[in-house]
Amino acid sequence: MAEIRIRNTEERIQGEEAVRAFLEQQEVLYEHWNPSKLSEELQQKFVLSDEEKQQILATYDEEIKDLAERRGYKTWDIIALSDATPNLDELLKKFENVHTHTEDEVRAITAGRGIFIIKGTDDVGYFDVELEAGDVISVPEYKPHFFTLMDNREIVAVRLFIETEGWIAHPFADEKFASKQA
Ligand SMILES: [Fe+2]
Repeated sequence: MAEIRIRNTEERIQGEEAVRAFLEQQEVLYEHWNPSKLSEELQQKFVLSDEEKQQILATYDEEIKDLAERRGYKTWDIIALSDATPNLDELLKKFENVHTHTEDEVRAITAGRGIFIIKGTDDVGYFDVELEAGDVISVPEYKPHFFTLMDNREIVAVRLFIETEGWIAHPFADEKFASKQA
C-alpha cells in the first residue's frame, strides 16, 4: 500500500484511507487494484516480452477501461525498468528533475516499487509517494513532480495517456528543491 513522506517534517502517512485523503487534498488521484490478479510469475518479472506485456494489460483490462472511461484516457502501455534496462542510470538521471506535463501522469504499479516526488500545496511542500504493486496514481497536469525507482530498482507499471504528446516533460526550475537535496 502506498505511503507518504512529507519532506519538510519527515511525517509519514500510512494506511489506505489516510493516504487517499491526503492525496485527495493535494488533488492527486489514488486508487488500488488487486495485485494478486496477476500471475505469480509476472508479479516478479521485470524483463518482459511483448506477449507478457499484453498478458498484464489483459489481466487488468476491466480496471484500465474503467479508469480510462472516468478520466478520459485514450491509450495505454506497459513500462518495465530494472538493472537489465540499458542505460538505467542515465534514464534515472533524466527522470530525476522536477517537471510538469500538460496532461495527467498516470501509473498503475503491477510489480516492484517506485516513488513519486510531488510539489504539494505551500503548507505541505514536497512530499514522496512510495508505491508498490496494486497502487494507482494520477498526478494532475501542471503539478510539478518527478518519478524514480526505490532501492530495489525494479518496477512494472501500466501508463495511461490522453495523448502521448501531452506527456512531454517541461522542466520546472525550483531552486528551493535543489537546495533541499544538497
Ligand atoms: Fe512526469
